Amino acid sequence: MTDKPTIRPRRLRSSAAMRRLVAETEVAPRQLVLPMFVADGLAEPKPIASMPGVVQHTIDSLRAAAEEAVAAGVGGLMLFGVPRAADKDAVGSGADRVDGILNRALEAVRADLGDATVLMADTCLDEFTDHGHCGVLDDDSRVDNDATLERYAAMAVAQARAGAHVLGPSGMMDGQIAAIRGALDNAGFTDTALLAYTAKYASAFYGPFRDAVDSSLDGDRRTYQQDSANRTEALRELELDLAEGADMVMVKPAMGYLDVLSDVADHTTVPVAAYQVSGEYSMISAAAERGWIDRRAAVLESITSIRRAGATIVLTYWAAEAAGWLR
Ligand code: PBG
Repeated sequence: MTDKPTIRPRRLRSSAAMRRLVAETEVAPRQLVLPMFVADGLAEPKPIASMPGVVQHTIDSLRAAAEEAVAAGVGGLMLFGVPRAADKDAVGSGADRVDGILNRALEAVRADLGDATVLMADTCLDEFTDHGHCGVLDDDSRVDNDATLERYAAMAVAQARAGAHVLGPSGMMDGQIAAIRGALDNAGFTDTALLAYTAKYASAFYGPFRDAVDSSLDGDRRTYQQDSANRTEALRELELDLAEGADMVMVKPAMGYLDVLSDVADHTTVPVAAYQVSGEYSMISAAAERGWIDRRAAVLESITSIRRAGATIVLTYWAAEAAGWLR
């Protein structure tokens, strides 16, 4: 016998029931948002080679997959449009045309699902421009911030009109939240919410996404997306987005930026999202395909880590599948 208590943290790990009781972080299907791609001119869904299990949808297959994901319990859907190559131009006209692929898809999914889910739209020009940049270019081929804001404003109004509940401006132009908020308000879309890409880094982990949207980009986005070396800068971007009227904020990518995510979550009271991007999906998928890691365990661990770091909402290509596991 001794007076000293035995300090044993392992007691709280001793059984699955004990671990479940004391777990600090939960992942619920409602917190997961499924990013989806819809392409113009396809006869059937087209697999994306670098993202096994993810496809470019036709409008019909998108509608079916959206219903399925919502039935599985996901909290929302984030749609990206892929126009025909011939429809891309310097200003991304397809982005705000009523018959642009993304706007048609939003309209169809909103008609099917109404308010049963939260329908989100990517508000960015990169899929629609023939040069692949997120904005329009000036005479020296640099991305012109303020000219781009006018295009985002038009795109945002078109997306709200098509039925999006939430817009996700992902282009990292200065002042984009204020410009879009102003345009939505002027057009009467005061209820359309903005999920600001607050800290979006210029990342190599977007590689597979560029395949997914048939990107025309030749070059990089380092003059508008953040440098991966910077942490404090994200808090400056956060202040600006909140002052401009962001309803929710996002950090992207997720896994390499959990410190940034944690900072952002500590400094705001609005909901914080994180985007587990294409490269994160592809890395885990590729290793699992080789039998090098346990796919399901790795997916759930990664999403749990993103939640633990401070995200209340996680955008992930596994959203529907993981929602099925978690129910
Ligand atoms: C740009 C956009 C990108 C992603 C979402 N929106 C790519 C980029 O900035 O180059 C990446 C998403 C992913 O990699 O899963 N509109």
